[in-house]
Amino acid sequence: MRGWIVPPPKEPTKLREEFNKERNKKVTQLISQGYLKSERIKEAMLKVSREDFIPHQYRDYAHREVPLPLPGEKATISCPHSYPLFYEPLGLDKGHKFLEVGLGSGYGAAIAREVVGSDGLVVSIDIDPLTFEFAKKNLKNAGYKDIILVQGDGGHGYPKLSPYDRISVTAACIGIPPPLVEQLKVGGRLIAPVIENGIQYLVLLEKRDKSVRSKVICEVLYVSLRGMYGSDKE
Ligand SMILES: C[S@@+](CC[C@H](N)C(=O)[O-])C[C@H]1O[C@@H](n2cnc3c(N)ncnc32)[C@H](O)[C@@H]1O
Repeated sequence: MRGWIVPPPKEPTKLREEFNKERNKKVTQLISQGYLKSERIKEAMLKVSREDFIPHQYRDYAHREVPLPLPGEKATISCPHSYPLFYEPLGLDKGHKFLEVGLGSGYGAAIAREVVGSDGLVVSIDIDPLTFEFAKKNLKNAGYKDIILVQGDGGHGYPKLSPYDRISVTAACIGIPPPLVEQLKVGGRLIAPVIENGIQYLVLLEKRDKSVRSKVICEVLYVSLRGMYGSDKE
């Protein structure tokens, strides 16, 4: 069976300096592995302290390539490589209006906020009230005050601020929720783990004038999307 082995919870011992060293090493590694390419995403990953988005008893594992459990039902902070894996093909860039479905820890929203800069906007939604409150606290403590945080079913998107240049869905769905495609700009891109015959594929979709074009990037393993378009009903 495919799955992740989560390390055991423990009292954290690492100091800030050690995390800083680990973060620099991780960025170098992600570049050499070919995940991290763009300067803006690289700078964002160097800037955001990932350990501040991780529950206390898993903090020491911040830079391990494993998803770590978050407060709430079936929520995780994704592995470090997941962020360039999603944001590089999306071409997330300065000035973009970005929607994230699956706020989780808030780390992905913080990275996106650094990438889009003050000319852009980040909107992020989580369905789980406990996970949502955890992310909200993390983002506040890290000094992010202008990310639009929404608690609810992200399968419906957030029409109020649409259309979006880029959309990222961080939970696995059976099909991409139609409201998200509707809320994407023409020329915009969306990325999501999509389940087919029990296997999850990371799919990149580009919205054209009267059509959408999609391509599979690789196989992945994410928690299930919940709510109206959820895959948790399988
Ligand atoms: C892999 S985690 C997200 C990781 C997150 N991007 C981060 O940086 O920590 C997936 C998240 O999707 C959320 N989720 C699942 N179904 C959802 C839905 N329909 N709408 C919004 N969030 C949903 C879960 O509660 C979970 O927090």
